[in-house]
Amino acid sequence: MDLPPKRECLEEIKPYVPGKPVEEVKREYNLEEVIKLASNENPLGPSPRAQEAMRESVEEVSFYPDGNCYRLKRILTRRMGVDQEELIIGNGSDELLKLLAETYINPGDEAVMPQPSFSEYDFAMKVMGGISRFVPLRSDFEYDLEAMLEAVNERTRLVFLCNPNNPTGTFVNHRNLSNFIKKLPRGVIVVVDEAYCEYASDPYFPHSLELLEGGHPLLVLRTFSKIYGLAGLRIGYGIGSKQLIADMQRVREPFNVNYMAQVAAAAALEDDLHLARSRNLVEEGRRQVALGLEEMGLYPVPSQANFFFVNIGVDSREAFPLFLKRGIVIRTGDIFGYPNYIRVNFGTLEQNQLFLDALKEVREELGVGEGSPGSG
Ligand SMILES: Cc1ncc(COP(=O)(O)O)c(C=O)c1O
Repeated sequence: MDLPPKRECLEEIKPYVPGKPVEEVKREYNLEEVIKLASNENPLGPSPRAQEAMRESVEEVSFYPDGNCYRLKRILTRRMGVDQEELIIGNGSDELLKLLAETYINPGDEAVMPQPSFSEYDFAMKVMGGISRFVPLRSDFEYDLEAMLEAVNERTRLVFLCNPNNPTGTFVNHRNLSNFIKKLPRGVIVVVDEAYCEYASDPYFPHSLELLEGGHPLLVLRTFSKIYGLAGLRIGYGIGSKQLIADMQRVREPFNVNYMAQVAAAAALEDDLHLARSRNLVEEGRRQVALGLEEMGLYPVPSQANFFFVNIGVDSREAFPLFLKRGIVIRTGDIFGYPNYIRVNFGTLEQNQLFLDALKEVREELGVGEGSPGSG
């Protein structure tokens, strides 16, 4: 077929590899039960209030949704003390990353981002012909903020910070983030991606909305895909200055967020009980998994998120099919540059136990028995 040449910048883009879907694993391994702990979803599912709101709204889907997401924004403004004009709602926060790059990135412009971190920052840059400057995490998996500052130059338009970071679960605290932002040149936008912030319990976790008042361009990203359990609906939001949001609105499609997503997100925001239950489950999971891993001589990276990153002492690509065979989907660390690590989200306590049992068996099958530490 004679196609025109595709844009040059696309040569560098590798399609995103999502966590393996449950149905696919069931088919391939002839299993009835499969537990997916690979995409940091909420094992408790969507908030019951969101489910009810969706059921009640089914008939409305013959109408176009409100492109401005007025109702949802009204709840967000009330809960967060920001103005409607400081909010943008997206088809997942993924879309907001792309809109941001479409707004500010010309070919050859640069962004500084940690590595490993969420792959969509690089994708958003590459799609616009931008250049990603990767700054490795320190050996303790903390951000190397000094090195990130050094990577900023006159072509830098964006700096990405994922807080807590995916895949490590580590975080930058309020003071360090605030100082970092102050040291950046004026025209550089800081993107603080807080997809997992609701799970963070450390008292020094940033109050990012306070930092918005500091005057430096900042975009805080949040999502309904994680703690709110609405990943399948695709909805997230960004908070920034009125000028930044107005700039981004220019590239947003008129009806980018579907009606069900708006209805469900609005209801989920008001469901404090579901939020608390989801958070408590992760806190319990952290204790349970830390103990279970310790018995195997394994120590996860301290995580403020709903997942953990751990060196299992064997190549995760070899371990992966052995987990699948047992009906458990995890993420291998090779995609993040750490082949002996896996990233696993906390499930229900029962699912966590099944994971721990499976890990023990998988390590034995691969010849790493008890007392062979995998961390370090
Ligand atoms: C750090 C981070 N940001 C953003 C997203 C995307 O979220 P959404 O489903 O809102 O597009 C994810 C999803 O995995 C993520 O891990």
